[in-house]
Amino acid sequence: MSGLSEPAHVAAGGPAVAADKPAPARVVIFDTTLRDGEQSPGVALTVAEKLEVARQLVRLGVDVIEAGFPISSPGDFAAVKAVADEVRGVTVAALARTGRADVERAWEAVRGAERPRIHIFIATSEIHMVHKLGMTSDEVVRETRESVSLAASLGAEVEFSAEDATRSDPEFLVRVFSEAARAGATVLNVPDTVGYTTPREYAALIRMLRERVEDADGRGRPGGPLCFSVHCHDDLGLATANSLAAVEAGASQVECTVNGIGERAGNTSLEEVIMALRTRRGLYARTTGIDPRQITRTSHLVSRLTGMKVQPNKAIVGANAFAHQSGIHQDGVLKNPLTYEIMRPEDVGLAANSIVLGKLSGRHALATHLARLGYELDEERLKAVFARFKALADKKKEVRDLDLMALVEEEAVGPDGGQQDRWTLEELQVVSGSKVIPTATVLLSSPTGPRKEACSGLGPVDAAFAAIARAAGCAPTLLEYDLRAVTSGQDALGEVVLRLGLDGQNALGRGVSTDVIEASARAYVVALNKLKPGERGDLVAREAVGSDSD
Ligand code: KIV
Ligand code: ZN
Repeated sequence: MSGLSEPAHVAAGGPAVAADKPAPARVVIFDTTLRDGEQSPGVALTVAEKLEVARQLVRLGVDVIEAGFPISSPGDFAAVKAVADEVRGVTVAALARTGRADVERAWEAVRGAERPRIHIFIATSEIHMVHKLGMTSDEVVRETRESVSLAASLGAEVEFSAEDATRSDPEFLVRVFSEAARAGATVLNVPDTVGYTTPREYAALIRMLRERVEDADGRGRPGGPLCFSVHCHDDLGLATANSLAAVEAGASQVECTVNGIGERAGNTSLEEVIMALRTRRGLYARTTGIDPRQITRTSHLVSRLTGMKVQPNKAIVGANAFAHQSGIHQDGVLKNPLTYEIMRPEDVGLAANSIVLGKLSGRHALATHLARLGYELDEERLKAVFARFKALADKKKEVRDLDLMALVEEEAVGPDGGQQDRWTLEELQVVSGSKVIPTATVLLSSPTGPRKEACSGLGPVDAAFAAIARAAGCAPTLLEYDLRAVTSGQDALGEVVLRLGLDGQNALGRGVSTDVIEASARAYVVALNKLKPGERGDLVAREAVGSDSD
């Protein structure tokens, strides 16, 4: 970043750069949003959604996409296979436990990738080996050797993870990693599975392993030096700090997720690692293949599809990450942004967020502007977004980039390619107030024709949901509902994210509008369209008023 310099002791390569062996200049970014990230409570992506995220991860420039755990379910298998067969220019990894069935299933899913990787893991800590696996350390070593050699013999690149490494006996880690490398693993991952370690301790572990794992520098191996990889969880809020400390100690792959989503407190956040390496490049002296201008867009996409909101004060991608509230800060930034900004919003793809877009005149101008924001839309989606944009521009004085991104994301390709949506919200009318019974009338269209229904409810949103459910002939349960403003100001777009449940299915919907009841109704229809046909349940009798279709 121009204008920012490193402190003298750091720029001089002083005490902070402590790696005692030459380490590769490039850090491999291994994204596990689709595997460990998807293990966040309540998150379940469809195959189409996983593909959409994978395509965006390629735009972002990650090196490895861990697409799932194929043996865990038929859906996960299908998603890994779809990603492996479609995306190009990256390594696609599939997770497997040790054992023939897991490894073969992983290979079946990932073999179509340009660069397929099987990621095998087994626990190595005493507590896991005794209480979870019921295995001795010799058995763990044998399982490792057999599974890694099987995976290597199939033609995959092999990564081996010693689960719960940071609570494992370091001597045993040297043994098991050396055995894995001898059997054909070229990437050795050192997971902090329970988020227990600290930066200094983790860095020392990585340094020790680089020193002591057999032939780590690759003099006796055709594949060259082993890649030491780090994988941290954020239970103590240290995942990013631990990963960066490990990079300083010579780790050459960082495993992370977009927005830091993942089991419990989550995984290392991709955007934090990337922006730390970039902002403090004089300190770390490492590069990555990431295009940071894709960070905001990727964060929005993952948040929209997983339904996991980003906290406003989250580093890099939170709504307040670049907002200056106090007068002293605002004054300083106006005089010179570097007084309080260590990164610029445009560095992470928020280029024009604070700039008024105005009313773009034509579709072509909109397409050009969207391309600058990183969105390439096909004709059909561009047409839909343009119509929404025009309608919004008629209502709002200023349409900002955040508004535009919200519209584009709502019009994004749906779970079945966006073409087979059965219901479209054509009209919504609501009567509400302190002295009337809230009532909503909706007109939905579908390939089989229009349906109009009216219902009352506890409030206008409840009435709208009841009318839509009645028109669509099903009765899902509203599991989650969340409303927020996309930008500040009284004319802000409202964004609703909700989750519907029905017969064991669970679907997420998102809608935006300057009218929050319309945003709610749109989100409801999006979620409804994701529930599989034939499994939607029957119409539940609700009080209906003025129904045209009866
Ligand atoms: O946290 C962990 O240990 C994992 C392994 C499967 C790598 O996610
Ligand atoms: Zn993990």
